[in-house]
Amino acid sequence: MNEAIEEYILSHSDDEGELLAKLNRDANVNLLRPRMLSGHLQGRILKMFCNMLKPKRVLEIGTYTGYATLCFAEALAADAEIHTIEINDEMEDFILKYVDQSPHKEKIKLHIGDATEIIPALNLSFDLVFMDADKRLYCQYYDLIFDQIPSGGIILADNTLWDGKVLNKPHHTDLQTIGILDFNTKIKLDDRVEKVILPLRDGLTMIRKK
Ligand SMILES: C[S@@+](CC[C@H](N)C(=O)[O-])C[C@H]1O[C@@H](n2cnc3c(N)ncnc32)[C@H](O)[C@@H]1O
Repeated sequence: MNEAIEEYILSHSDDEGELLAKLNRDANVNLLRPRMLSGHLQGRILKMFCNMLKPKRVLEIGTYTGYATLCFAEALAADAEIHTIEINDEMEDFILKYVDQSPHKEKIKLHIGDATEIIPALNLSFDLVFMDADKRLYCQYYDLIFDQIPSGGIILADNTLWDGKVLNKPHHTDLQTIGILDFNTKIKLDDRVEKVILPLRDGLTMIRKK
């Protein structure tokens, strides 16, 4: 997206708020890959979806800094919760530093470990899933959570356009691009779900279980 248009959109949308702005600055100064966090625009969109869908339980696969986690938590009812899974234990202190400052911290359950092991162990159902971890494992995450989502439940899968690399089909060699291509094909062919790719940022696929 053109920078001027993005600036216009942000200045005519809700602010991200002080805590998230502070987290964002901290990530940009102190972390290696700050671009991985959802950010102002996508964060407000995730919050809006969450407000519209009113899920009782959300699952986020790939926490990183907790930016998106905090956006979902803002929109959750007092008795609803978000489970978020992060494999990199070095992120735990950063995540908790901001979760602890949030008025919604009671709704957030952080799990440190590999989502492929934690999802089956959790054995919970989720009305809304935000898939945003290892691109090579998207098909595996999908298969793992599918039976834990009720009819009408939603999966949001991030980065499904993968910086446009999905178009370079004959030349793709890296495993992350292959993971995204396989996932997009699998979802397209799955009659159990409705699906649409939103051209937001790096592509966000909305999947609704029939
Ligand atoms: C793109 S970032 C997540 C950004 C975050 N969801 C947001 O929107 O602000 C992806 C994260 O997934 C984590 N990750 C990768 N593989 C994982 C796995 N198998 N289980 C849990 N987390 C994983 C990475 O360590 C990284 O922090």
